[in-house]
Amino acid sequence: MSGDLLGAALAARAGARAMVLTGGIGVGKTRAVLTLAGDLRRQHLRVGGVASPWALVGGETVGYRVRDLTTGEEHPLCSRPAPGLPSCRFTFSPEGLAFANAVLARATREAEVIVVDEVGPLELSGGGFTPGLRAALGSPAFLILTTRPALVDEVRAWAGLAGVPTIELGERPPALRTLAETQHLFDAAAEHCARPTGSTGPLTGYADSLARAATLVTIAPGERILDIGIGTGAFACRVAVPGVEVWGVDPSPTMLTRCQKEHPDYHLREGHFLALPVPDGAFHAVLSSFAFHHLAPTEYEPAFAEITRVLEPGRRFALLDILFTTEQAREEARVILGDLWDDEETYPLTAEVVQAAESAGAVDVAPHRVGRLHWAITGTRPHSPVSRARRSPAA
Ligand SMILES: C[S@@+](CC[C@H](N)C(=O)[O-])C[C@H]1O[C@@H](n2cnc3c(N)ncnc32)[C@H](O)[C@@H]1O
Repeated sequence: MSGDLLGAALAARAGARAMVLTGGIGVGKTRAVLTLAGDLRRQHLRVGGVASPWALVGGETVGYRVRDLTTGEEHPLCSRPAPGLPSCRFTFSPEGLAFANAVLARATREAEVIVVDEVGPLELSGGGFTPGLRAALGSPAFLILTTRPALVDEVRAWAGLAGVPTIELGERPPALRTLAETQHLFDAAAEHCARPTGSTGPLTGYADSLARAATLVTIAPGERILDIGIGTGAFACRVAVPGVEVWGVDPSPTMLTRCQKEHPDYHLREGHFLALPVPDGAFHAVLSSFAFHHLAPTEYEPAFAEITRVLEPGRRFALLDILFTTEQAREEARVILGDLWDDEETYPLTAEVVQAAESAGAVDVAPHRVGRLHWAITGTRPHSPVSRARRSPAA
């Protein structure tokens, strides 16, 4: 891959002003530009600019650093001061940004190749690395920019680089984060964040959407419900009528502690969508709110295999989340919400979720709009398995 990328960069430099490297979160864009910068240097090219490696504490991503590719000097770039609900956005360090822009300004005077890792919504709105990037664009150097796939066209148009070679790195990661990262994120959210009733950004209308989605579930006293990603119990408590037995699963022990404090009678278990620590066919309804989007697309179908496994045959699930009907609608929402959009999250399309549920064997699967950005997907475990292949429940 390293040789391929070097060859592509040299070929691009022969005929274009710049090249763009793209790929989803976790595919290794920064690792790729660091390797490429070393390879270009071995070709006797003067390489400058910035890379933004993760800042890890105890194995967890807590932010990003910014590295001067010429000197190796690094500074903190951004961090998550209070991760979790209602937004996981990063806070940028003015010193880190000033350092990065100074590095880019120097590179415009000294370098033949300038790397800018990475160009994102902050730059598209005129902040972040924009001053340094503008200077680099005005220099004769060859530019290597990294950005997320959804931003490629916008970044190229913004930088006046329409049509420059663009290379997509790797595949989508099999999981958005590790279980330990998810626990860390939501343990911190449970400790620091209030209940997201007055939510903004993609969670706008949270409480109304929960109330509307709750009407999609019919449950009678004496029956049992399961809420996956229960958090503090916000969805379950809107669905449960007196006499209903409520069970909840969540990967975050701190969320479960908070939930238990608010609802001492709930039966709570540590676990996650792909391995529900509950028996087959035990529930008369399965619920989930604002948790499904923490899965990677490859995990959607196995998650529904678990949901249908634990439902009693003939009974229904209702899964509420931030969903979109088209990629265009998702992109429009990102633009409208601007800074309130969370770039760390991937919100699925309703059709992807419906298809995953059907592939896992659910029937009568249907999307219901319950808020501006919120949809509930309902479906039923059939009385006898449908012919489509079903995955066995996760161990
Ligand atoms: C935005 S909160 C929503 C909590 C609650 N359902 C609500 O509507 O207020 C997301 C919840 O999903 C949980 N979560 C994250 N990843 C999960 C996974 N893979 N499986 C199950 N729950 C998960 C988090 O721990 C957190 O409690």
